[in-house]
Amino acid sequence: MIILAIETSCDETAISILDCEKDTVNVLAHEINSQIELHKEFGGVYPNLARREHGLNCVPVLEQALENAKLPIEDFLMTEDLKNELQKMMEREPVLFELLINFLNKTQKPKFDAIAVTEGPGLEPALWVGITFAKALSLAWNLPIISVNHMEGHIVSALLENTTQKNSNLDSRIRENNKRDEEDKGNNLETIFQIQEIKFPAISLLVSGGHTELVKIDSIGNYEVVGRTRDDAVGEAFDKVARLLGYPYPGGPEVSALAEKARNSKHEIRNNIKIQNDKTEIKLPRPMLHSKDLDFSFSGIKTAVLYMIQKISVMTEEIKMEIAKEFEDAVIEVLVAKTKKAIETYGAKTLIVGGGVIANKPLRKTLVDSLPQTKVLIPNIKLTTDNATMIGVAGYLKINRSNSTYSTDLRAQGGMSLGKN
Ligand code: KG4
Ligand code: ZN
Repeated sequence: MIILAIETSCDETAISILDCEKDTVNVLAHEINSQIELHKEFGGVYPNLARREHGLNCVPVLEQALENAKLPIEDFLMTEDLKNELQKMMEREPVLFELLINFLNKTQKPKFDAIAVTEGPGLEPALWVGITFAKALSLAWNLPIISVNHMEGHIVSALLENTTQKNSNLDSRIRENNKRDEEDKGNNLETIFQIQEIKFPAISLLVSGGHTELVKIDSIGNYEVVGRTRDDAVGEAFDKVARLLGYPYPGGPEVSALAEKARNSKHEIRNNIKIQNDKTEIKLPRPMLHSKDLDFSFSGIKTAVLYMIQKISVMTEEIKMEIAKEFEDAVIEVLVAKTKKAIETYGAKTLIVGGGVIANKPLRKTLVDSLPQTKVLIPNIKLTTDNATMIGVAGYLKINRSNSTYSTDLRAQGGMSLGKN
């Protein structure tokens, strides 16, 4: 089954082309166009700007993906009727419509079997662009659509095992498909993956800029959100603390780099900082650490950082490092304690971690060290941030489940949560 996958839920226009058969996924194209530089000046993702950019990017990203995938083609004729129907369907996306018509006029029909597209959760104006694009291609090329929950995409990305890179020296319980910590920033991911079987029940910890959730998984497609943040997502907290320390959006990686510097710095320096700041102890709360449920709260830590900074008369690089370290320690302590609790509560055999914040090395290490009995699955680094390969795989697994049907009347669902699907 050849799947065209489209993801536009936030600030990445992503398109992948997958050839899926049984438990094998051949990634023929994996394209991501990030808008991060544009959103930086707003200190976060600005929904209408994201929408405009997706409208401009969908067609060129698809063209690039098609060039990489080199699919067989079939005859295709653009008719006036089709053009009129597309115009009606895309009346809210006139720029995308013009680009699509130009593209269809010069392109044959690639041999796809279905389109998978993110329906939610995410920014609705952004989601609508991907959905409109999917519907238009579905009409033009006569293809069925599989709607996908973005969070399920993050979960299934951890099931993809790169069979060509098995000889890793890492902890054998962590299956990391790429040399994660090496400079490896290109988009290319033309690889063959196996979808691996896991033991259920599993718990998934999803940590991104928009989400912090613990999900119980009884089988793929059968989810229950058992814990969630009551305010900020963990990535959002990293980004807000980064801003307080003077770093642009998204500053999570910078905060983590500062924390690492603090850990590597000499004891004398760190003691001096403690003495200099006698009146302002660099100590942050661990919100909800001992609460009975599996929920989180991160906005209090961020506010505590703000008050701490206000009390410090002269901010130095060393003090920033100490604050970053204390912040990272606090967040990791709560995330790991609640994840452990979820695993014990549900007798889970497997932990799946997903979302952009798992780029954080101390978080990954602490999770693995604290869960010696649990198989911890972490996706390939190129599949941790938003991408369309994860959407295509989730769509493939979804359409192969019994009772699953193709989508007919698809709408963006910004607040969609995981359940049975
Ligand atoms: O999943 P993602 O790429 O995008 C969505 O939010 O959907 O996650 C991005 C988030 C940002 O908040 C970013 O600051 C955070 O992940 N992040 C990190 C690190 N790398 C990325 N947070 C902490 N430590 C990191 N190394
Ligand atoms: Zn995401």
